[in-house]
Amino acid sequence: MVDEERNEMVVTPWEVRGKVDYERLIREFGTQPLTTELIQRIAKFTGKVHLQLRRGLFFSHRDLDVVLDLYEKGTKFVLYTGRGPSGPVHLGHLVPWIFTKHLQDHFKTRLYFQMTDDEKFLVKDDLELEEATNFAYENALDLIALGFKPENTFIIYDVQDIDLLYDLALKVAKRITFSTARATFGFQESTNIGWVFWPAIQAAPCFIHAKLTGENVPALIPAAIDQDPYWRITRDVAPKLGYYKPAQIHCRLLPGLGVGGKMSASEPETCIFTTDPPDIVKRKVWGAFTGGKPTVAEQRRMGGDPSICTVFQYFLFMFEEDDEKLAERERQCRAGEVLCGECKKELTDRINSFLEDHRRKREKARNIIDKFHIKR
Ligand code: TRP
Repeated sequence: MVDEERNEMVVTPWEVRGKVDYERLIREFGTQPLTTELIQRIAKFTGKVHLQLRRGLFFSHRDLDVVLDLYEKGTKFVLYTGRGPSGPVHLGHLVPWIFTKHLQDHFKTRLYFQMTDDEKFLVKDDLELEEATNFAYENALDLIALGFKPENTFIIYDVQDIDLLYDLALKVAKRITFSTARATFGFQESTNIGWVFWPAIQAAPCFIHAKLTGENVPALIPAAIDQDPYWRITRDVAPKLGYYKPAQIHCRLLPGLGVGGKMSASEPETCIFTTDPPDIVKRKVWGAFTGGKPTVAEQRRMGGDPSICTVFQYFLFMFEEDDEKLAERERQCRAGEVLCGECKKELTDRINSFLEDHRRKREKARNIIDKFHIKR
């Protein structure tokens, strides 16, 4: 799965490298493309088609049609997503959470949210368990700041709440052989044994609702496509345990500000953390990779290329709701009518006003965080 020589695409839950070809992922992972027809079916419940669906951020699924069929006939689903708390949250993390909230609001479903401090401790050489656990609570503030409600949002902190997951994880783990896990996740001889068992813990929340309430309903998981290997093994096991196979709606890996649009918390200049003050945001956006030309004269004459521009990507996925304004920005860029500095300035302002509001809500969340903790 690792191919250093050629700049081959590598997409695993722990590593993303090379240029990601999403069509190819659909084929190789064996998922289904998210069709216009399915998007319309979602819109029957949500009204307007969400920006992230309109603009193809969510692009693939498994059993979304099954979940919608069931819902139409009166069987609800629950939402499940999560976060590996290895550091502060950046804008890219918020994007699928915003979509999750949209689904929750319109389908009136519960959300189970897993904070995997255990996972991050096991897979990161330089992260202490206590640090990961601390990030889990800090990251939960970002989630809550998006407006989730305690009545229907249940955060699971793996280390603290392992008693709720352990029986389910055991039932899953017993039915997955080492050979399957190795083929699915690329485990090596040197992989620590905690990591080898760990996928069973990410599977467990798919079934937690049934366990806690006795209501056997499917889980729908909005998450980036790199998490898909977990769902493949979970889907194999689910029927053997008497549960529905968890369904997925997959999003792209979120673009950062670096060359090729890569976002990586290990390269802090390429991502904007929710805790970044205005001047840091300004500096990072200023240093962003764009589709601009080296000189103003060339840009005026030949125009820029929004398709490779990380600044444009941020407008596309988060900061320009209005389709017409987005199209106009794209046109102006290609025509050389707007320069990168202008787009950067506008994006900086939008991010900073978003973050100002977000940080206020994030601080308030400290007072109510306990209400979101999953109850026994
Ligand atoms: N493994 C994920 C990560 O490292 C965290 C996670 C746990 C998750 N459960 C999930 C992500 C469900 C999406 C959906 O970020």
